Amino acid sequence: MTRAITLNDVSKSYTRGARVVDRLSLDIAPGEFLVLLGPSGCGKSTVLRMIAGLEEIDEGRLFLDGEYGNDLPPSERDMAMVFQNFALYPSMSSRDNIGFPLRIEAPGSDPAPRVDATARMLGIEDLLDRFPAQLSGGERQRVAMGRAIARHPSAFLMDEPLSNLDAKLRNHLRAEISQLTRELGVTTVYVTHDQSEAMSLGDRVAVLRGGVLQQVGSPRAVYALPENVFVAAFIGIPRINLLRGLVRAPLDGAMTISLGKQFLRLPEPLSLDHQLLRVQQGREVIVGLRSEAVRIAKPAAARTGEVALTGLVEHLEFQGHEVLVHFNTGSRPALVPELEAPRPAPDRPDRRRRREGGTVLERLRVRAGALRAGSAMATAEPVQPDPAPAAAEPRVPGDLIVRTTPDIRLRQSMQVPLLVDLAHLFVFDQSGRRICPNPDRLPVLEE
Ligand SMILES: Nc1ncnc2c1ncn2[C@@H]1O[C@H](COP(=O)(O)OP(=O)(O)O)[C@@H](O)[C@H]1O
Ligand SMILES: [Mg+2]
Repeated sequence: MTRAITLNDVSKSYTRGARVVDRLSLDIAPGEFLVLLGPSGCGKSTVLRMIAGLEEIDEGRLFLDGEYGNDLPPSERDMAMVFQNFALYPSMSSRDNIGFPLRIEAPGSDPAPRVDATARMLGIEDLLDRFPAQLSGGERQRVAMGRAIARHPSAFLMDEPLSNLDAKLRNHLRAEISQLTRELGVTTVYVTHDQSEAMSLGDRVAVLRGGVLQQVGSPRAVYALPENVFVAAFIGIPRINLLRGLVRAPLDGAMTISLGKQFLRLPEPLSLDHQLLRVQQGREVIVGLRSEAVRIAKPAAARTGEVALTGLVEHLEFQGHEVLVHFNTGSRPALVPELEAPRPAPDRPDRRRRREGGTVLERLRVRAGALRAGSAMATAEPVQPDPAPAAAEPRVPGDLIVRTTPDIRLRQSMQVPLLVDLAHLFVFDQSGRRICPNPDRLPVLEE
């Protein structure tokens, strides 16, 4: 009853030559909850619509329970879609909205028992006689869910169903959707651009970028072992710190990763993982440090596997239960082009008074210049030659964000000792591919 959905090298173009979905292959197991995650415009809805049969597949093949399904009309796919904009019939009560697909499916039969059972399941019995205009956003979305569920489809296709709701309601309905789909055990493909939604809902998360699948795996796997810098940067809050580094592996000395003004010294004997970095000698890499990889503590407090850095406090972001400290460590951040907008700008008008060294405008200009000079573009495309040597670029403030408890006393412009846990160190090559950690290659190497 619930179905397996397989995409085999599926592509789609709306205009000649420009693929919005590019050779996508995915195996979705019966009963699985798969989330398609990616920034706006990356092709998520197009994929969902091709699965639903609402959009033609240009190339590649779709299989439903192993049967070739490219040409199957939508009505024969036995799937229910839930959209962002609820899409209820305004002139029908909730009861009729939920019952409508049942009437279409089986014209002679009475939809009432199924409608009532669905309403009970969703806790919307008292909304059945209201019209969409008399419902709140969240209630409307529950009715829309009811309409999808009542038919007992073999798969749910949900396209950002919670995007139009406020944050609190979104969290609430997220939990409900999760519980409901698990209870029903129906294969679900859920589209979102919200990584936290993806992480909390999905059995697996498939990350798309520009129509190309970047990685598919459990939420834990895409967080802990992102295949590339895009996935690393897209998943996790606060965003992973990405710094440009240079690997130095002298024959007679310790291996280091230079981060502009400071460096990470890799402890001897080198871990198997760090040995993989040796071939990067003299090359630029991208160092990824999630906020949990760095803590504020003196070098004397270092545990095994921790190395020291120092950072200048640029900005404090109070979150209530924690504080995000934006440090300047004198490194240059690596940028992921599609993902730069959400990054909080360290220069805020409310900090104008306290600034040392130049007006806000001057600093913004420096920052803008650095972003333009930009060399630090982390892309999944082939390696581009590095246009500018490190010293030529202006310093960009706030290259490292660290999480800490709110009780810690920090001020702007304070120099603070930091410890980096190398067990949590990510290194990506210039094309953005992850070099370490690399669990696959480890056993092959000798000590
Ligand atoms: N009917 C269409 N005609 C032309 N271009 C389209 C059409 N639908 C989507 N696109 C384009 O295809 C790309 C992917 O769109 P979409 O699948 O809606 O992305 P997402 O759902 O990830 O935001 C976008 O660049 C979008 O502008
Ligand atoms: Mg969309």
